[in-house]
Order: sequence, then C-alpha cells, then structure tokens
Amino acid sequence: MRAISYRRTGGPDVLELVDLPVPDPGPGEVRVRLAFSGVNPTDWKSRSGATAGALADDHQIPNQDGAGTVEAVGQGVDPAVTGQRVWVWEAAWQRRWGTAAEYTVVPARQAVLLGEGPSFELGAALGIPFLTAHRCLTLGESLPDRLGPGALTGRTVLVQGGAGAVGNAAIQLARWADATVVATVSSPRKAQLAAAAGASHVVDYRQQDVVAEVRKVAPKGVDVVVEVAPATNAAVDAQLVGPHGAVAVYANNGGDEVTLPVRTQMGPNAQWHFVLVYTEPERAKVLGVEDVNAAVLDGAVRVGEEAGLPLHVHPLAQTAEAHRAVEEGAVGKVLVDVTA
Ligand SMILES: NC(=O)c1ccc[n+]([C@@H]2O[C@H](COP(=O)([O-])OP(=O)(O)OC[C@H]3O[C@@H](n4cnc5c(N)ncnc54)[C@H](OP(=O)(O)O)[C@@H]3O)[C@@H](O)[C@H]2O)c1
Repeated sequence: MRAISYRRTGGPDVLELVDLPVPDPGPGEVRVRLAFSGVNPTDWKSRSGATAGALADDHQIPNQDGAGTVEAVGQGVDPAVTGQRVWVWEAAWQRRWGTAAEYTVVPARQAVLLGEGPSFELGAALGIPFLTAHRCLTLGESLPDRLGPGALTGRTVLVQGGAGAVGNAAIQLARWADATVVATVSSPRKAQLAAAAGASHVVDYRQQDVVAEVRKVAPKGVDVVVEVAPATNAAVDAQLVGPHGAVAVYANNGGDEVTLPVRTQMGPNAQWHFVLVYTEPERAKVLGVEDVNAAVLDGAVRVGEEAGLPLHVHPLAQTAEAHRAVEEGAVGKVLVDVTA
C-alpha cells in the first residue's frame, strides 16, 4: 500500500511516501481502507519529537484521525461490519498504523459506524477535536456527563478560540445540546467562522473587553470555559467562571504556566480541569464516542466554510505540506486525501 512513514522525529521532511505491505487485522481489530486522514496539532508534535509519541522501530505512519470503509476483520470481530463506512480515532496512539496511508488497522471500537449519509471528510475531522470538545463540555461536576439535545439547556459555555478546530467542535456540540455559546476570536474573519459554527455571541479578544462582553450574556458567569490558551486567559476565565463552574484546559497555546487568584475561585467553588484526550477516563471516552456519533447521525455536526471549518485537502504524497499547514496555524480543518 502507499503510506507516509517516518523513521526519526524531525521537521515535515522526515515524512516519506513508501510502499508497505497491507496490514492484517489482529484479534479484535479491523482493517479500514481509508478515504481521508485528518491532521491535528498532535500529529506534527509527535512527528517533531516535541511530545512523547510512540515511534515504532522500523516505521511510524502519522495521523490519528481518519475515515473509510471496513475491509476485513480480525478474530472475534463481527464480520457484519465488513463494508461499513466508519470514522477512526486514535489510530496512531501507541500504534504504528496511523491514517496517512491507504489502509490502517485499529481495535474494532476505534472504527465507529458512520452510516451512508455523512461524508468521509466529516468522518476524518471528528476524532481528536470532537472527543476533546466532548470531554471539556462534560467534566464539570455541575454538568451532565452526556451530551444530546437539551442536555445543556439553560447553560452558558465560553469557548476561547472559537475558530480553532477544537473550538469549532465545542461550539457545534454545545449548540446541539442547546447551550448558549459565547466564543472568542482574534479577527473579523474568525468571528464569521465562530458564528457559522453556531456561537450566538462572538467577542474579538483583541478589540473588546472579554469580561464585560461575556457578562452581558451571562451576568452570573458561565458554566464552563473551554480553554486553549490558559497562560494568557486565566485571569479572564477566573472572573467569568460562574457558581460551580469549570474551566477545561486542553492546550498550552501561548504558555505553559498559569497563575490563578485563589480567593476569587473559592467563592464559586470553581473547578480547573486539565484534559488530554488520549488518557481521559475510559468511561468518559466511551460516552464521548457515542455522543459524538449521535450528533453526527442527528445531522448536528458539519464541516466546511458554512460550518465555520473551511477544509484544506492535500493529496497523500503531500502529507508533509498538510503537517506544515497545521503547524503554521491553518484556519479550519486540514485533511489528506489518501486516494489522491
Ligand atoms: N489536550 C488534548 O487532548 C488536545 C486535543 C486536541 C488539541 N489539543 C491542543 O489544542 C491546541 C489547539 O488545537 P486545534 O486543533 O484546535 O488548533 P487550531 O485549529 O490551530 O486552533 C487553535 C486556536 O486557538 C486560538 N487561540 C490562540 N491563542 C488564543 C488566545 N489567547 N485566546 C483565544 N484563542 C486563542 C487560535 O486563534 P487566534 O490565534 O486567532 O486567537 C486558534 O483559533 C493545540 O495546541 C493542540 O495540540 C489538545
């Protein structure tokens, strides 16, 4: 099969187009013929060696997310899933068979039935961003652990960085669950995208006073902040977290150290949580996969400009360009068409 592989960590140029044997699914696994591979920051961070990622002895295929069709099943897997369209999550987490290839093999539960309607582009955009967003929206003690229509009725969610991939996913899932969603952005262009995703209020954090603007919508504060840049935004979040509210920190964009005003956080019994999607509690992951899939089947989750997530598609041989684009902050979703 045609695959992108790397044997050492480094810049995008360590990625090579190679010919590898088609992998066979082991017990409990499925083989998926991929259509699209989704690229996330975690993929270039692992490839670069910046974060601890498994680098297999002989080759590592990058990229966690993808979508395609189940082609073969291993021992113990229901053969009825053969031929089904699926989305794939965490294909390369402590495994060598990432999604930048014509085929991957994953444990059967990591290939989720997509049905006939949703596109493969949507399927490849789900895993890392949507599962992370689901975790952020459900980890507070005053929040339900499931999302679905009505689950967040009467709640207000603040999404810091609403034009990012995770930010977009958080807006779409929170809107599906009937929350009021406020998003911050850094430009008018990104404001349009956050609004297209479903944010009812958008604040330009470079031009406006975020605390004052959010307080107009949520005078008592918000129920959860979905936070991408805690080092920059902690003081703002601390002023905006409402009674028994939570701040869900899923990234360290803009700095790795956070200073918090302790006394003001005691009043609302605020909770500050940290999220890594790979290692989240098992039950949370199971519920996240189920709820994200339900949102997809409900037609509540979309990709593309009209959903606030412009697509940028690269052919397989140009996976290095796709990684570079994500590393340089591409706005929207970067995909690899593995058939091109
Ligand atoms: N913990 C996990 O499990 C997990 C899962 C997924 C992603 N991540 C991490 O999360 C980060 C974002 O991932 P992504 O795929 O969403 O990337 P992305 O699409 O590039 O989005 C990042 C967003 O953060 C915004 N941002 C940066 N600084 C900000 C600030 N001070 N206030 C508000 N927004 C700010 C950016 O917009 P502006 O610069 O225009 O504001 C941009 O929209 C990456 O570091 C990634 O590695 C972690």
